[in-house]
Amino acid sequence: MKKTDKKDLKNRLVALHEPSSPQAEYFRTIKTNIEMMNIDSKVKSLLVTSPTQDSGKTMISVNLASTYANDGVKTLLIDLDLRRPSLGFAMPIVKSSPGLTGILDSSQNLTPEDVIVQVTDTNLYVLPVGVRPLSPYSILNSAKLGQLIEQLKEIFDMIIIDTPPVMMVKDALLVSKWAEASILIARGGYSNKIDIKKIFEKYARCKCKYTWCYI
Ligand SMILES: Nc1ncnc2c1ncn2[C@@H]1O[C@H](COP(=O)(O)OP(=O)(O)O)[C@@H](O)[C@H]1O
Ligand SMILES: [Mg+2]
Repeated sequence: MKKTDKKDLKNRLVALHEPSSPQAEYFRTIKTNIEMMNIDSKVKSLLVTSPTQDSGKTMISVNLASTYANDGVKTLLIDLDLRRPSLGFAMPIVKSSPGLTGILDSSQNLTPEDVIVQVTDTNLYVLPVGVRPLSPYSILNSAKLGQLIEQLKEIFDMIIIDTPPVMMVKDALLVSKWAEASILIARGGYSNKIDIKKIFEKYARCKCKYTWCYI
């Protein structure tokens, strides 16, 4: 398989850069599927994950967050792929933010307003990782992160969380308790059927709500 180039990610952000294009329509379909998945209560936070890396998690996260924002929803995209952050490749404007690790470091005294980056003239806001942490697990397992996400849910109408792959690390399952539902990405010709089956079983065990997205 051809090695993927992270720079190519920027070209795939159709819902962000060309919201009226036919390609952007695909992400509106995913949004509709999510809305249909939860009839009783409105989904306000979504986690995006996949079996392995390079499956399109960041690509889907940015496009889906842009789709919500384009529909007038005040949307926050959080990069919780603390091991391999890539929002900086997709959206260079976030590179200068102290990010999530900055806000969780109490010695820096930062507020969400100090670290969250608004995409100019849109309803889309982004919280990048910041300085990559030495111990991602301890951040993801911390009560502080949970409290921050709860605080952010008061400010934003939709939160999309980009995470690491489920097959490699436990991070996505750890974070799933803060999101109402997960989107599991399977990339045609790339994701392995056995891995997909394993994720299905993991999610069934933790009783998390989820939907599939095949790209
Ligand atoms: N459906 C797809 N077909 C071809 N290339 C893709 C597809 N989805 C994503 N890519 C490319 O694969 C690379 C990895 O995508 P990314 O969203 O960063 O994956 P992940 O976040 O799962 O690691 C990027 O260069 C992206 O442009
Ligand atoms: Mg990614």
